[in-house]
Amino acid sequence: MRVQSDTGVEQLDDRLVLTWGDGRRSTFHHLWLRDNCLCPSCRHPSVPERLVDTTSIPDDIAPADVELSPDDELVIIWAGEDHRSTFPLSWLARHSYDDGPRPPAGESRILWTDGPPDPVPEVAYDDVMTTDEGLRRWLVQLQRHGVSFIRDSPTVPGTGPRIAGRVAFLRNSNFGLLWDVVSKPDPDSLAYTAHALAPHVDLVSREMLPGVQLLHCLVFEATGGDSLLVDGFACAAELAATDPDAYELLTTTPLPFRYRDGAGTDVSTRVPMIHLDHDGNFHEVRYSNALLAPLDVPADQMLDTYRAVRTFARLLRSGRFELRLRLQPGDVMCFDNYRVLHGRSEFDPNSGHRHLQGCYLDRDDVLSRLRALEATAE
Ligand code: OGA
Ligand code: ZN
Ligand code: ZN
Repeated sequence: MRVQSDTGVEQLDDRLVLTWGDGRRSTFHHLWLRDNCLCPSCRHPSVPERLVDTTSIPDDIAPADVELSPDDELVIIWAGEDHRSTFPLSWLARHSYDDGPRPPAGESRILWTDGPPDPVPEVAYDDVMTTDEGLRRWLVQLQRHGVSFIRDSPTVPGTGPRIAGRVAFLRNSNFGLLWDVVSKPDPDSLAYTAHALAPHVDLVSREMLPGVQLLHCLVFEATGGDSLLVDGFACAAELAATDPDAYELLTTTPLPFRYRDGAGTDVSTRVPMIHLDHDGNFHEVRYSNALLAPLDVPADQMLDTYRAVRTFARLLRSGRFELRLRLQPGDVMCFDNYRVLHGRSEFDPNSGHRHLQGCYLDRDDVLSRLRALEATAE
């Protein structure tokens, strides 16, 4: 946007109105401007936090003088206090708010409405580990498609956490920071058996889901055990289009999930299966047949609730918005656990060894790293 020279400013009772070079107009209330003053006594010069206290600003705060400087800045001298605020016009343009909130940069998602991404998004291990561009590409793919494979990684334990270390620190849970997916004699999760796993979200009974899962394949000699990934958001969009009643119910009715292992862990929450954010966009899809607790909706809603859950579950398993593949040693299957559900077919533990290792990153940290990389790339 052009913000220079021919920008104009008009002062009204409680606001300024800037007219940009292209004729567009933006409102900035006096209170908002004073509250967002960028000077070092209002924003700490080195700590990235605000010092100005919103409650201390008079209700009738107003400029005594306003001018547009030749340096493309809006300069305000405030009435009733000895204070001057200087706003670069480019900063004001970025923060203008006439149309309400703006989607955060880089949040553009491509749903698997017409099938999973083709080719499958992938990045080489060495690129992610040694270049910021490789790391950025991996995170952009995760953000956009909900999935990205890291190829040609070392088949040694601990590779997942080393990759995750490029982003931030690991998310812990009752299963530990790094968990071995092998068929074992005394399992505390269906994942540690040879059973098929229907599409599911990991740690579904926690209030805060882990954001990204990294599933690293070390050994795969067994027959069976193919992986599947399903775009939960594409399924939710399809449900909205084909069964609005079920969609309405699943976006508004909290359903109970619970994991209780009898060894001191009892994690439980109630969340709608299709969880929308405050702007009405998909936030997360929560589904795991294995960890859905006994439904406890009022009796006259029970059969409608079952109908909606079963309809959505069948859609998730329909294969329509799904990627199926067999992991190779050295592959790291990474996916957005808020959006993309994962599973596997049954395998035969007597036919050969199968060893995966899993770990998680929190969504905040993934988005934070991506924003920081995008800012450097600007
Ligand atoms: C898991 C899981 C899939 C697999 O460990 O959470 O879903 O392929 N594993 O074993
Ligand atoms: Zn100030
Ligand atoms: Zn899982």
